[in-house]
Amino acid sequence: MVAVDRARTTECFFGPGEYLLHNIENIGETELIFSTVEHLESANAALPLDQNQDSYAHLFNPLTLREVTSAHRAWMSPMMQFAAAPDGDDVGTPLDWHLQHLGSPAAAGVALVMVEATAIDPVGRSRVYDVGLWNDRQTMAFRRIADFSAQGSVPGIQLVHAGRKGSTGRPWPDADRGPETWGTVGASPLSFGRLPSPSELSIDEVESIVQSFAASARRAAVAGFKVLKLHGGHGYPIHQFLSPNSNIRTDRYGGSLENRMRFGLDVVRTVRQSWPAGLPLFFRASATDWLGSDTDDPRPGWTVDDTVELASRLKELGVDLMDVSSGRSAPHARIPRSPLGSARRSRSPPLQWE
Ligand SMILES: Cc1cc2nc3c(=O)[nH]c(=O)nc-3n(C[C@H](O)[C@H](O)[C@H](O)COP(=O)(O)O)c2cc1C
Repeated sequence: MVAVDRARTTECFFGPGEYLLHNIENIGETELIFSTVEHLESANAALPLDQNQDSYAHLFNPLTLREVTSAHRAWMSPMMQFAAAPDGDDVGTPLDWHLQHLGSPAAAGVALVMVEATAIDPVGRSRVYDVGLWNDRQTMAFRRIADFSAQGSVPGIQLVHAGRKGSTGRPWPDADRGPETWGTVGASPLSFGRLPSPSELSIDEVESIVQSFAASARRAAVAGFKVLKLHGGHGYPIHQFLSPNSNIRTDRYGGSLENRMRFGLDVVRTVRQSWPAGLPLFFRASATDWLGSDTDDPRPGWTVDDTVELASRLKELGVDLMDVSSGRSAPHARIPRSPLGSARRSRSPPLQWE
């Protein structure tokens, strides 16, 4: 066991069969204690999957979900590029930029490369430069990317509807084009920050979005993707429906937790039926709005306990992996911060390597 004092960088060497931790810098307020984790006899052998479940030791182990095996667990997260054709025949179509953005990590050995949040229909784009997957042209352009990525990694794609966070501009000053002004839609007519208020989705429109998710999922399979991730977090409609902070509906999609989960679970159920049974389905969630019982802010919000309940429901519906993020639905929420999470670590149950 090695104690590292505050503001000191050190190198710690351990014997055969143990871990090498190097350049540990403690910039937090508390003393950090690192200990070695259990390892196999041989210094570089991979751990079997049933050992040290919480340990980073699994990073270089393969992971099999349904019929898909990723060689290790260093994966590329979806990252919006704001680089698709904004209009014309190529609207929403991925270009050479996207091939390079996704192809280079695949060529470099990243085991799973996930395409950015891809809109299921034109209104569901957050920006005119977003990629989409609602027509044949886009499907074929994505096929080129999936084919290339499949040479070195597992190609995945994330599907989204931007809801009330749609129709915005690029996140940097854009000389070419300002924010677009198409009417946005959402669970309730509540605006997000300074964005315009969306119109409330009718029940028919809700059901139509569910079908559009399923149609895009079928296109993703045709394009050759092997993993599909639904965007259920970051304030997009699935999350907007989930949270009592953004959903004030009084029909069967609002009110109780069961009702607020209904839209997201409908999307998952329908997509699971449209996406090949042998391929994994992922779900990205925001675990908390940083409101309500998770904080000392009494305003209602989506909480970690709600996420735990949602997770068990997603599992029943055939979701294979949950990618847990947080926030981005309630711009007024205060997010507690601590350097490198050190303050939280000192309070949380220790991880295996601490
Ligand atoms: C430029 C940029 C674009 C992003 N776009 C998306 C996106 O399309 N979908 C998504 O779920 N997350 C998106 N994110 C969040 C990342 O996927 C990732 O979760 C975040 O950068 C934190 O990294 P980590 O998950 O490895 O901690 C984006 C992040 C960045 C920096």
